[in-house]
Amino acid sequence: MKKVAAVILAAGKGTRMKSALPKVVHEVSGLPLVVHLIRQVRSLGIKDIVVVVGHEKDVVIDRVSKEKVAIVEQKEQLGTGHALRMCKKALASFSGDILVLGGDTYFENSETLQSFCTYHKRNAYDMSVLTAQLDNPFGYGRIIRNPEKDVVAIREEVDAVTEERLIREINTGIYLFNKDKVFATLKKVRTDNKKKEYYLTSAVALFVAAKHRVGGFLSDPVYAILGVNDRVQLADIQKIVNRSIIMAHQRRGVTVIDPDSTYIEVDVTIGSDSIIYPFTYIEKNVSIGSGCAIGPFCKIRSDSTVKDTSNIGSFVEVVRSKVGSHTNIKHLSYIGDATVGNRVNIGAGTITANYDGVHKHKTVIGDGSFIGSDTVLIAPITVGKGARTGAGAVVPGRRNIPAKQIAVGVPAKIVSAQKKVKTQKAVRQKKG
Ligand code: UD1
Ligand code: CA
Repeated sequence: MKKVAAVILAAGKGTRMKSALPKVVHEVSGLPLVVHLIRQVRSLGIKDIVVVVGHEKDVVIDRVSKEKVAIVEQKEQLGTGHALRMCKKALASFSGDILVLGGDTYFENSETLQSFCTYHKRNAYDMSVLTAQLDNPFGYGRIIRNPEKDVVAIREEVDAVTEERLIREINTGIYLFNKDKVFATLKKVRTDNKKKEYYLTSAVALFVAAKHRVGGFLSDPVYAILGVNDRVQLADIQKIVNRSIIMAHQRRGVTVIDPDSTYIEVDVTIGSDSIIYPFTYIEKNVSIGSGCAIGPFCKIRSDSTVKDTSNIGSFVEVVRSKVGSHTNIKHLSYIGDATVGNRVNIGAGTITANYDGVHKHKTVIGDGSFIGSDTVLIAPITVGKGARTGAGAVVPGRRNIPAKQIAVGVPAKIVSAQKKVKTQKAVRQKKG
């Protein structure tokens, strides 16, 4: 099989987003659009990926920095054809076909791209374009076919004559090209159009004129390819991505009571038999064990871990924290930069005060401890194993509570466990 490299065009601005940020770095489920696309391309087994950057390039480069892609700069955005031409050097040692995609594309699954590649190879085309049939083709390039139904040109909306505008088969902006032929052809592309740009779409007619073989593959269903041009479409894609992430968790044995009000970002693991209650937001890079109950109305933020059989209840926020197993944080708590052990009970309203206005500090809560309702633990602080705090205790920073000791009051003072038991006995005796 011929090798395939991919080029993602991401140098444009994305005017309709009305944003200071380039369109391709807008996030869906915790990941920039362009990174979603890179992952989708990778899932086809394509290793060589070039990303063309230009507008706000540093932001784009930063967002793709972990993705092992080559970066090509297009200093001036002179059009899609010009953008691809910039990649000649980066692909000099590569031979095979190149898959070209707009960075603002999202695929609902990898099947569409897979069938497109298969179509291109099976027919041994020199170029193929992925097309779609739309009820409202406004704004897209139209696919022009001859009476034999071969693709002979692509006409941009602004350059199209009235009859051409009636064509509902559009260019998705996704192509496969024989590498050598496309770079030879791009040299011939001129800016003889309304926008005065080097259109990549002009390559089609030039391929046909050179007697190269051109294919047009109609994607069915259309919704499998989604373009993002404005924030309305961004939200549509967000819904689809969220739904597919949740479905993957459900299939692995997680109960999600209401997928419509639950948000789970990418790269989250959840063990089987955990239940996610409505209005829960779980950010990326979170790991939750088996048999946990999460929510309703809770937020678990990035880089947090919750071990098996724990309970994160209503109006609880957990941030950059590790929560052990069989631990309950059931109501109205903020747990930030904390390590909470196993079999801990965190009373309602407990807060780890992790931020002093300049720095964030850690809280450690030992196994088997019991934190009374409405406790404020001012970090840095360590609560020893089996220790307790009284309701409403405010424990000052660095005043660690030793194992099995009890801290009560504001500011909290240690009362030994021994003493507490005696006092309780005394009270009981007195009452009795
Ligand atoms: C393009 C196609 C159009 C197709 C549509 C599908 C051309 C001339 N037209 O139009 O036929 O229906 O996509 O969405 O190609 N880009 C660069 N450098 C540039 C210009 C653009 O990297 O100089 C990038 C953009 O960031 C974007 C992609 O190329 O990711 C497409 O460019 P865009 O301006 O959105 O093209 P459309 O007008 O949508
Ligand atoms: Ca576009």
